[in-house]
Amino acid sequence: MPHHRGCLRLLAAFCLTFLFLTFTASYKPVIVVHGLFDSPSDFQLLLNFINETHPGTNVSVVDLFDRTESLKSLWMQVEGFRQAIYPIMQNAVDGVHLYCYSQGGLICRALLSTMPDHNVDTFISLSSPQMGQYGDTKYLKWLFPHYMKSNLYRLCYTQLGQDISICNYWNDPHHRDLYLNNSNFLAVLNDERFHPNASAWKRNLLRIRKLILIGGPDDGVIMPWESSMFAFYDVNETVKDMTSQPVYLLDTFGLKTLDARGDIVFCKMANVSHTNWHSNRTVYDTCIDKWLT
Ligand SMILES: *[C@@H]1O[C@H](CO)[C@@H](O)[C@H](O)[C@H]1NC(C)=O
Ligand SMILES: *[C@@H]1O[C@H](CO)[C@@H](O)[C@H](O)[C@H]1NC(C)=O
Ligand SMILES: *[C@@H]1O[C@H](CO)[C@@H](O)[C@H](O)[C@H]1NC(C)=O
Ligand SMILES: *[C@@H]1O[C@H](CO)[C@@H](O)[C@H](O)[C@H]1NC(C)=O
Ligand SMILES: *[C@@H]1O[C@H](CO)[C@@H](O)[C@H](O)[C@H]1NC(C)=O
Ligand SMILES: *[C@@H]1O[C@H](CO)[C@@H](O)[C@H](O)[C@H]1NC(C)=O
Ligand SMILES: *[C@@H]1O[C@H](CO)[C@@H](O)[C@H](O)[C@H]1NC(C)=O
Repeated sequence: MPHHRGCLRLLAAFCLTFLFLTFTASYKPVIVVHGLFDSPSDFQLLLNFINETHPGTNVSVVDLFDRTESLKSLWMQVEGFRQAIYPIMQNAVDGVHLYCYSQGGLICRALLSTMPDHNVDTFISLSSPQMGQYGDTKYLKWLFPHYMKSNLYRLCYTQLGQDISICNYWNDPHHRDLYLNNSNFLAVLNDERFHPNASAWKRNLLRIRKLILIGGPDDGVIMPWESSMFAFYDVNETVKDMTSQPVYLLDTFGLKTLDARGDIVFCKMANVSHTNWHSNRTVYDTCIDKWLT
């Protein structure tokens, strides 16, 4: 009989261990926000990677502002994504991860800054123009055939221009005064332009645990590509790194605090073109996999 009881006890221990492992092995939900001209179908490979490496993860690729709809103003998109994402956060007691690609990375940063009760654990910013965009790309040529990077400010820094997503983060280093006066998205989000709620926005952003910045020199669309790492051009189009940016030095929106906490992770990858970031297995394995806990 004592032998029998020992067995039961062992079995109970096993069960408890099993329950404990199952419980701790459940992964936080992942919310995916796409970029300019994308739609959820572009993330099929990512879904496969996550299913293979973290089976059972609930991944929501938000189906909003797809393709040309993604040209709508970013504050409008932020509002739409907020309504879609909020219930997912509320269902996730242990929090969620945000995976945001390209333009989507700016939408996500705005969500994080403007949601006082978000529960985002890790914010993955995948080749996002976090400090803005200034460059001629094929998208630009197609959208604005009569403009080049040097004169796009004439359109972008107007009320009409600010209704177009790209103009919301157009950052022309030769027209800083116009940017500061007219950019109603990036300059406001960065607290370069006054907003009454800036200090609350900073607190909100700082609720995240980690910020993962992924980008690389062969991107071909984000210009300068270092914008994905919070670096940007100075007035002479020389790239200055994140720690020399005024928004960092003044800690206007929380970047310096996050860095001082040791919570910014840089993952720079060569040979990845802009449209391949979310589908490249090496990028997933090197920069993303370990954060989707
Ligand atoms: C995840 O992978 C398993 C095993 O390969 C497969 O059976 C399942 O259908 C996949 N689930 C999804 C949602 O892709
Ligand atoms: C995944 O999350 C969504 C949003 O919270 C929820 O509606 C859905 O039921 C979840 N799916 C599974 C399989 O748990
Ligand atoms: C910026 O706005 C201020 C105040 O409205 C105005 O005085 C100034 O001329 C503007 N600067 C530019 C370059 O538009
Ligand atoms: C500032 O935050 C308050 C409280 O969260 C909110 O009611 C108000 O609308 C915000 N103001 C602006 C201009 O966004
Ligand atoms: C930009 O270049 C000019 C001319 O070479 C130089 O005088 C100026 O100091 C440079 N500005 C900065 C911020 O490096
Ligand atoms: C994937 O990323 C790796 C590492 O940066 C790179 O060497 C490779 O060329 C990329 N593959 C594709 C198809 O983009
Ligand atoms: C990038 O591609 C070049 C040329 O194909 C190759 O020499 C280099 O090793 C690659 N780098 C990475 C990180 O894959």
